[in-house]
Amino acid sequence: MDQHSGVTLFGTGYVGLVTGTCLAEVGHHVTCVDVDAQKVEGLCRGEIPIHEPCLAPMVARNLREGRLAFTTDAPAALQGAGIVFIAVGTPPNEDGSADLGHVLDVARTIGQQVTHPVIVVNKSTVPVGTADRVREVIHFHLRQRGLVFDVEVVSNPEFLKEGAAVADCMKPDRIILGTRSGLAAAALKRLYAPFNHKHERILVMDERSAELTKYAANAMLATKISFMNEVANIAERMGADVEAVRRGIGSDPRIGYQFIYPGMGYGGSCFPKDVKALAHMARSNGYAPDLLAAVDGVNRRQKSRLFQHIQRHYDGALAGRTFALWGLAFKPNTDDMREAPSRVLIERLVAAGARVRAYDPQAGDHARTLFADEPQVEVCNSAADALEGANALALVTEWKQFWRPRLDHLHAALSDRVIFDGRNVFEPWEVEAAGLAYHGIGRGR
Ligand code: UGA
Repeated sequence: MDQHSGVTLFGTGYVGLVTGTCLAEVGHHVTCVDVDAQKVEGLCRGEIPIHEPCLAPMVARNLREGRLAFTTDAPAALQGAGIVFIAVGTPPNEDGSADLGHVLDVARTIGQQVTHPVIVVNKSTVPVGTADRVREVIHFHLRQRGLVFDVEVVSNPEFLKEGAAVADCMKPDRIILGTRSGLAAAALKRLYAPFNHKHERILVMDERSAELTKYAANAMLATKISFMNEVANIAERMGADVEAVRRGIGSDPRIGYQFIYPGMGYGGSCFPKDVKALAHMARSNGYAPDLLAAVDGVNRRQKSRLFQHIQRHYDGALAGRTFALWGLAFKPNTDDMREAPSRVLIERLVAAGARVRAYDPQAGDHARTLFADEPQVEVCNSAADALEGANALALVTEWKQFWRPRLDHLHAALSDRVIFDGRNVFEPWEVEAAGLAYHGIGRGR
């Protein structure tokens, strides 16, 4: 191994941990740095703080085989590095803009500690222009230390989906390299070669375009979802079934079937934050982002849509009723409840005086912490347990295990014999044939 052939990665959150582990898996030597000592200790023992399929055995294998290490010691981690990733969080500020505090802290650390030329690669989702700011911070500190070598900063946004992050990283649709340096592009092409076999996935562009690509991708997907939720709300009022409409439009390859599932609105740590951040960037640069504002507004309202169905079904008389709630995570295959529609539904049911018995295959522990002070909410250990004493069922997250329940069991368990389906996973006629009332999203037939 040559002296500076290692990869150092700052931030062991979702993106950092998955990226670092996948790079180690294909043979690179990766050191992940985090300021959280407790987290680093756990990671050194192979304890993974997130629920992500396939990740834990991969971390364990690469730790064991010596290609992956975790530390809090940034200067030591920088010593053998040729490529340094920044993969720290960019949480939203009050005004929707992205908080760059952590990214610039890492830039400062690199500028203050690095002793040889490195390529800095920014993976965090950052406002357009951040690569320039990171470069300025690093070079400012290098100058202060009297060092004259160059540090190139590349924008390389991440497109991982929670729940499929390892697969997305190992087989990416595209690898965006934002750099005007031929040398940096060549070094990163070498690094990513194992992920780029069979057909070319690497797109090289300037830093700002790469930064904007990330926001544009998430905003486009969020737009598809809000559009479809709007169509659902129209369908409902016009006696049409949005599920038929979805199939009808998805069959046009220019539209496609993906990301046109109506439901309870998008959640998670990315879409809500990125749509707002892009709108904020647009406004700060003198452009009124009407479409993005509408995407965000429709999504906010959509999170209350199922509650409105429930309220209408009961003529507003919700006090004292008990609702079984299946699914708490913002989507299946994750334990993440950030911006989850379940939270809005629970808050509204509780405010209306109802009780909630909720179950999620993975998010139970988070939910217990979140609702610890809420006596009207009980987090249950199974889907069947959640039905105990319930008047009605609300399906909130479309985990596969909820798709085909025994309808005779539901008929026996739910005293008001009604199902509110926030993800349109049930066939209305089947539910109704089993003697239960059905309310979905946009199903006005
Ligand atoms: C999203 C993007 O899909 C990734 O490409 C991106 O890398 C990531 O954000 C990020 O920026 O880090 P993620 O937030 O994990 O990934 O989740 P998605 O699978 O995209 O789902 C987002 C939300 O949209 C979920 O709440 C889901 O229920 C909702 N959704 C999705 C719909 O309501 N309808 C659909 O048709 C699709």
